[in-house]
Amino acid sequence: MTVETRKVSLTETAETVLQRRYYLKDAQGHPVENWEKLCRRVANAVALPDRELDDYEEVRDHFFSLIYSLDFLPNSPCLMNAGTGIGQLSACFVLPVEDSMEGIFTAVKNGALVHKTGGGTGYSFSRLRPRNATVSSTQGVASGPLSFAAVFDVATETIKQGGKRRGANMGVMRVDHPDIMDFICAKEDQTRFNNFNFSVAITDEFMQALYDEREYALVDPVTKEIVSSLNARTVFDKIVDLAWHNGEPGVLFIDAANRANPTPQLGEFEATNPCGEQWLLPYESCNLGSINLGNFVEGGRVDYDRLARTTRLATRFLDNVIDCNVFPIPEIKEMTMKTRKIGLGIMGMHDMLIQMGLSYASNEGRKLCAEVMKYIRTISEETSIELAKVKGPFPAFDPAINTYTPRRNAALTSIQPTGTVSMIADCASGCEPYFSIVMVKHVMDGDKLLMVNKHFEEIARAEGFYSTELMARVADSGTVVGHEEIPVKWQEIFCTAQDITPSDHIQMQGILQQSGVDSSISKTINMPNTATKEDVRLAYLMGYEMGCKGLTVYRDGSRDGQVLNTKSAS
Ligand code: CDP
Repeated sequence: MTVETRKVSLTETAETVLQRRYYLKDAQGHPVENWEKLCRRVANAVALPDRELDDYEEVRDHFFSLIYSLDFLPNSPCLMNAGTGIGQLSACFVLPVEDSMEGIFTAVKNGALVHKTGGGTGYSFSRLRPRNATVSSTQGVASGPLSFAAVFDVATETIKQGGKRRGANMGVMRVDHPDIMDFICAKEDQTRFNNFNFSVAITDEFMQALYDEREYALVDPVTKEIVSSLNARTVFDKIVDLAWHNGEPGVLFIDAANRANPTPQLGEFEATNPCGEQWLLPYESCNLGSINLGNFVEGGRVDYDRLARTTRLATRFLDNVIDCNVFPIPEIKEMTMKTRKIGLGIMGMHDMLIQMGLSYASNEGRKLCAEVMKYIRTISEETSIELAKVKGPFPAFDPAINTYTPRRNAALTSIQPTGTVSMIADCASGCEPYFSIVMVKHVMDGDKLLMVNKHFEEIARAEGFYSTELMARVADSGTVVGHEEIPVKWQEIFCTAQDITPSDHIQMQGILQQSGVDSSISKTINMPNTATKEDVRLAYLMGYEMGCKGLTVYRDGSRDGQVLNTKSAS
């Protein structure tokens, strides 16, 4: 059977990104690949574990077509490393940090090995004894989790990830750790811990204390003794205060994550990967991939049949990645092979909504996204169950504990940010709304170029309201809202991350989480510069109540030297 491949044209931006960081290069640094060759390299490598199966050649050609058509893209390490000497294909890792010198510096070393191959690492510092606790071997006092976190930060700074991307870390501390206030304030000084995202792991017990307006206990993780207590409101207000100031720390709802732990027999979740979409057990890794939903709207309807075919193939692709992966250390290989987690997600969700004529901030828009995510989850699970029949369920599956049907992968879905892969696919990132509709790009010799959203340009031209002058005004105001030449309907449909309310952002995250996401979702709750601390406080409460497993808020312009802004990008 010949596999049909849809023709694709890459944008100039996509080509530039690919040439700089994805295509293999010769000794002089010149790219020796193009998009087709890259897709063949990746498809051939990822199909290889199936070489003994009857449908091997067909599957290999389907994998090629899947990526080449931009219907689905795996995470960057897979695109960069598959079929090369590096062969490490995953984006997400969580490494344990044990409370000993040996444990801490083993984690530093393992993190360095992961970063070298393009992966990101999450660490929980919750197991480390608090600052000033006794150290029996030296009869001294402990310097505390934060001083060790600084070592991880410096190590990351020193290693560039395979020369292609800088290392990224997530640092997590439980809200009941005695050093929690130091942790919350650690990034107040914006020159410190720049290679980390910091998130506070908030427990249900803490939330209850917050609702009851009372104190909660701080527990020494080594002795398990209650060493003191803090007022929950004071701690929460400090998190809110600093998140309002510069977007950190984020919050993770760790009990919600552990309630959904598919393999509690192997341990508890303590941390996520750097962008928060993947909860993992210590030493687990996970490879991600995203279906480009913008490619699945035909004549104003979602093509569910094609979406199902793509989901089946994408699930099999990600499952195969586990078998052809070269893991950085044996412990990671062992844990990853036990649970075989994959992170199938989406990108171009806003492109889908726009093509369906729905606003990101509408009930109908949310309903559609939830339905699509649920559909992907269902088909992916069916595929994983089918794969288990052929290749066996994940080895840690225990029918006495795991009540679901035996499947090949302990976790199936999560929504990654798609920071770079969405640039290759030319679509809105992950489940985010577009950040702007018209941007000014500063090109060489001081010229400015207007970059207009492809859907908006098409509609504006078709309906006769396109003009360079209007586009310049949209770029200048940072929004399509309020320009009278633009019909109100399109003003609503082309609302961006800054035009919609924080509640709209959270509702979308919440509904996606509830409807079809096993692990978690990377999403920013954007707020205008004028947002108050009370707005941030209410956002966290709403996220918790909607069952989100974490929340990141960002107030426009609050971080020094903010790179991305609605009006210009260079
Ligand atoms: O689009 P791409 O596949 O490059 O990555 P992403 O979706 O923006 O990020 C997915 C995950 O890759 C993050 O959550 C991190 O775990 C990891 N990552 C990293 O380690 N270093 C980076 N510079 C970017 C992402």
